[in-house]
Amino acid sequence: MTKLRIAIQKSGRLNEDSLLILKNCGISIDNGKDQLKASARNFPMEVFYLRNGDIPQYLRDGVVDIAIIGENVLIEKGEDIDIAEKLGFSKCKVSLAVPKSVKYKSVYDFEGKRIATSYPNTVNMYLDKHGVKADLHIINGSVEIAPNIGLADAICDIVSSGSTLFKNNLKEVEVMLTSEAVLAVSPQISQERKEILKKLQFRIQSVLQARQ
Ligand code: PRP
Ligand code: MG
Repeated sequence: MTKLRIAIQKSGRLNEDSLLILKNCGISIDNGKDQLKASARNFPMEVFYLRNGDIPQYLRDGVVDIAIIGENVLIEKGEDIDIAEKLGFSKCKVSLAVPKSVKYKSVYDFEGKRIATSYPNTVNMYLDKHGVKADLHIINGSVEIAPNIGLADAICDIVSSGSTLFKNNLKEVEVMLTSEAVLAVSPQISQERKEILKKLQFRIQSVLQARQ
């Protein structure tokens, strides 16, 4: 039997809410996330638990048909991938921040500055738009520590509650984009699997309506 292959985040902010929305759709998944692949019991679906940053490539390659992923990750790594639904959870911003003590005037202040980030494409797109050139340091986590250890003058990262910025004595100065979880679709999805996707989308839309 043909199954729709869905990628969800293995661990992290989206994992729980992604499983919850599938559950709300009446789909029960057989096992936990220690197993990296699981089957749904009552819907033609296979679930792959993957690392966030790898998901755009899996979609592109057609290794999975759809994914629940942060819009911000698609903007960073998957501009070519279509969004079928916005899912209304895991809302966040991707922002530039500087030490609280800095007197910030405008985006031009970033000219020639060192910015630590896990989102180099997003930062470059934003700065290019303003004709600003900065020096990016790509790091994968704990980005907000960079100014405090002299690695950078500023950072760009996800802001959700704002508590990580606050705890690290930083202030948000530019919001580059806002994001939420979305249902993304592989450009390689087959016609047969598109039919299953339609059924899933129908259920998701009812769940989202009921949540309003
Ligand atoms: C994420 C993100 C920010 C923080 C934002 O980091 O990279 O640092 O959460 O959330 P807040 O505004 O609610 O504080 P995460 O905790 O996932 O760790 P990591 O960056 O080390 O992966
Ligand atoms: Mg972080």
